[in-house]
Amino acid sequence: MKRRVAILISGRGSNMAALLKAAAEADFPAEIAIVVSNRADAAGLAKARAAGAPTVVVESKPFGKDRAGFETALQAMLDTHGVELICLAGFMRLFTTEFVQRWYGKMLNIHPSLLPSFPGLDPHGQALRAGVKISGATVHFVIPETDAGPILMQGAVSVSDHDSADTLSERILEVEHRIYPDALRLLASGQVRLEGDVCKTIASAASGNFLISPVIDQAGG
Ligand code: GAR
Repeated sequence: MKRRVAILISGRGSNMAALLKAAAEADFPAEIAIVVSNRADAAGLAKARAAGAPTVVVESKPFGKDRAGFETALQAMLDTHGVELICLAGFMRLFTTEFVQRWYGKMLNIHPSLLPSFPGLDPHGQALRAGVKISGATVHFVIPETDAGPILMQGAVSVSDHDSADTLSERILEVEHRIYPDALRLLASGQVRLEGDVCKTIASAASGNFLISPVIDQAGG
């Protein structure tokens, strides 16, 4: 039985599109039961409809600071669609601790940095200002703290002196589109387990490749 997943978006929805594409494969262990946007003007909604995915808008704005009120409406929608797992994909609304605890171990988020470095806003700018030579993306379980929680999967890219926040974000986005479907596959097929703050993957193997940045040009030395 495929696990029933809700993807929550607020914006352009490129990670959502990557998840929908993966879920269209016959052997993918999850199906996208519903795409929920908290904004009626999210560009991702049209992408979801074009991909044939069911969509619904649960506007958060009318609830203002009443997070619990919004979550009651959201939870009702998740119940209606029999949702078992949630993927946050550029969902820009914070949850109450109660909602997060209710979905603990069943709700994933993706963030464009190698967490725990650079959580929050402008992670690409933060990475450039810190001068890191390698950055990337992280899929993690959601906990009450923003952009934190047991890490399920990460992917890395090198950072060059010529990068701007835009060029770095473009490269990291490619990694995001690769790791989010892979991470969901692992979760939906029961191949991960939580041990306290750490997520372990059954039969996990480190990839054999190094990523070194910058690379020294031996010939030019
Ligand atoms: C993605 O880069 C995602 O990692 C980021 O928002 C973008 C959404 O793009 N999420 C966060 O920064 C979470 N703190 P998308 O709508 O095209 O998937």
